[in-house]
Amino acid sequence: MKRRKFIKNTGFGAGSILTGSSVVSFLTACDNNDMMNGGGMNMGGQSVSVTEGKFSRMLPVPKTVKDNAILTAQATSATINGNAVSVLGYQANGILGPIIRINSGIKASINFQNNLSEKSNIHWHGLKIPANMDGHPEDVVNPGSNFNYQFSVNQRAGLCWYHPHPDGATARQAFQGLAGLFIINDAEEAALKLPSGMYEIPLVIQDKRFSSSGITYSPSTGEVMTGYMGETITVNGEVSPFAEVTTRFYRLRILNGSNARIYNLALSNNADLIIIGNDGGLLKSPSIVKNILLAPGERLDVLVNFAGLNAGTEVFLESKEINNAGNAQGKQGFKILKFKITQTVNDSFTVPVSLSSFATVSPSSSSKTRNFIINAMQMGGSMNMTGMHRINGKTYDKNRIDETVAANTTEIWVFDNSQGDEPHPMHLHGVHFQVWERSGGRGQLIPSESGWKDTVLVMPGETVKIIIPFSTLTGVFVFHCHNLEHEDDGMMLQYQLT
Ligand code: C2O
Ligand code: CU
Ligand code: CU
Repeated sequence: MKRRKFIKNTGFGAGSILTGSSVVSFLTACDNNDMMNGGGMNMGGQSVSVTEGKFSRMLPVPKTVKDNAILTAQATSATINGNAVSVLGYQANGILGPIIRINSGIKASINFQNNLSEKSNIHWHGLKIPANMDGHPEDVVNPGSNFNYQFSVNQRAGLCWYHPHPDGATARQAFQGLAGLFIINDAEEAALKLPSGMYEIPLVIQDKRFSSSGITYSPSTGEVMTGYMGETITVNGEVSPFAEVTTRFYRLRILNGSNARIYNLALSNNADLIIIGNDGGLLKSPSIVKNILLAPGERLDVLVNFAGLNAGTEVFLESKEINNAGNAQGKQGFKILKFKITQTVNDSFTVPVSLSSFATVSPSSSSKTRNFIINAMQMGGSMNMTGMHRINGKTYDKNRIDETVAANTTEIWVFDNSQGDEPHPMHLHGVHFQVWERSGGRGQLIPSESGWKDTVLVMPGETVKIIIPFSTLTGVFVFHCHNLEHEDDGMMLQYQLT
């Protein structure tokens, strides 16, 4: 049964077309679990409408630190939209954490101090580092304790990020403010002389749900189904901010740090987005688009050109509607960030024709294909209201290794959402992969999927094949849906590289 359609067609309690015992027990389970929340329940994946702010506050940019950072997770207060808001941060008096910027080849030593009242840890999303430094969900740091994450950064320039990953609490801790950017630079990138300094703008896009005093995280069962979405869009922790720019090229380093919300990014003046990189670093060559999807966990490296615009002009980074993204996503367009053009300048930058060279991995180098059905949900009589999201019928079990992979081999993994009705951004720890093929749904790859990736969006109806060259970093890693409610609900398995 297609769960979403069932719910949409019947409505909770309508009972008009209830047939079959599974449906009856499903509703009984709902009743027993007392899932009614106030004015109704978000059981079947309704979308959460965005309310735009005023775009009257300056875009904050997190401070930058180097390879020797201290990150202190704590409950603290941040000034957001002019109000003092209770948040979680990696420092006192602020949401999020600093931008860690490191040259490839450097050894990082990052001291994590857990001053939360619960377990936490740090996962370095996009970094190819040993399993014992990766922030596995069971590798947690107790309240009041610390852990020194030490690893060498041996990978191409790119935009990675970090966030907590404790089993069952990842979504809430991230939503309440724990996340940060991790930028790797290298010589190949430097030679391109891309816009830098104040012309390189990091953008962490997140939707939040605010109460009068804090960030509310209390997903209903329906919001576990859809993922938890907020009405308010923040960038770098501020609500609907603006950035002042001049008439030149800018490099936007964009992370979708939302738990569940997918964005269809575009500029309000219909100007080009010049895609130069993604999760895994620079593409081979730039790709020009008018809009592009960015799912939770994914990153984009984009050049935009404000040349030719008059001072005083306002251009918005916005999200357009999204087709066929399930019942809860993409129903509405909204503005995210305002660019205010302040003055006219000369700009001699030209977009490089070629950006990076790397091999395209051939499917013929794969020694094994693994198939993962990612739409599985049990609607049987014994259903309880957790573990609704599964991979091959399984939910996360720390004591079970789901896949054993030989080090230094290349494999094809297939994520099959052909029967599913929800989007799932699938993410692997410990590797970068190339996206080989998408069938069903959109039926093709999008330009940001042409390079190296660590997260790939699998829309309803789609099957996506990726090619993964595994490293020699043996150990146990997780792979999961990066809709963090799905992940915490169990849509996460383990592979062991041996
Ligand atoms: Cu950003 Cu396991 O995740
Ligand atoms: Cu990750
Ligand atoms: Cu999912």
